[in-house]
Amino acid sequence: MNQLITDKIVSAGLKRSNLPRIHVAGYGDVIKLKEEIPVSLPDLSSLRDFGGCYIVHGRYLLHAARLKSLAFASMIDLNPLPEFLAAADALRADQPRTRIETIQGDFRNPSMFMSLKPTDAALLYEVLLHQENYMEVLRNVVSCTHRFVCIAQPCIREELFVLPSAAVLLQFYDEALKELLRDGSFWPKESRTEQFNPAFWMWGHTTSHLIDIMHGLGWGLVEGTVVDNVCGRWWEYPLLVFARQQN
Ligand SMILES: C[S@@+](CC[C@H](N)C(=O)[O-])C[C@H]1O[C@@H](n2cnc3c(N)ncnc32)[C@H](O)[C@@H]1O
Repeated sequence: MNQLITDKIVSAGLKRSNLPRIHVAGYGDVIKLKEEIPVSLPDLSSLRDFGGCYIVHGRYLLHAARLKSLAFASMIDLNPLPEFLAAADALRADQPRTRIETIQGDFRNPSMFMSLKPTDAALLYEVLLHQENYMEVLRNVVSCTHRFVCIAQPCIREELFVLPSAAVLLQFYDEALKELLRDGSFWPKESRTEQFNPAFWMWGHTTSHLIDIMHGLGWGLVEGTVVDNVCGRWWEYPLLVFARQQN
């Protein structure tokens, strides 16, 4: 009897979102796709990049600011790197009408949002999986974003879960289990932590989880593609654009 109920739940839970899946030559192609997303958004005049500095030095924000001649471009990062600051200065020199704001801050902290100027769109690229309070971060991000929120990050594959919309806290998993989940991915080996540390991978979100929490906040998916082959066997890489729904 119990097995019957479990089977019914498992088969009812199999219905998952059916986004188009693509294969790319390598992560370089994902960078290009991430760069194109804000450029493709209609009538954009302002954009904020949450955590856009590490390795990529603000390229997603600055590329859009240049191509769309944005009036306002904002970067928030715990660590605004000198390479980003130099690239922002170069853009200011070329395009003085674009105001570029850099805020060194922690967006886990709700008070950081109180004085933010709202923007048309926000980028959350590879940052939510590092925040212990990602729901609160998202609530605060949408409160200061008028039209679009773009999310791109490795998501743990749905096949690992019986039910849809799953998220797992993997930061404190046994190292042996983490090692299995790292197989072929770009999740680096990290030192052991027993307290939340946003420098390391904290969450395995499924793609359906991200779509559902944005839905709950009143935002609908308007564009979505899943890259199938850049983060190993247990991870997929969705590129998602959400728009605020009219009430
Ligand atoms: C994994 S990197 C992602 C870089 C880039 N967005 C990308 O997609 O390649 C995470 C970035 O977010 C920043 N970051 C992570 N957590 C943050 C927080 N709570 N507040 C501010 N910045 C944060 C880090 O400093 C880093 O620049």
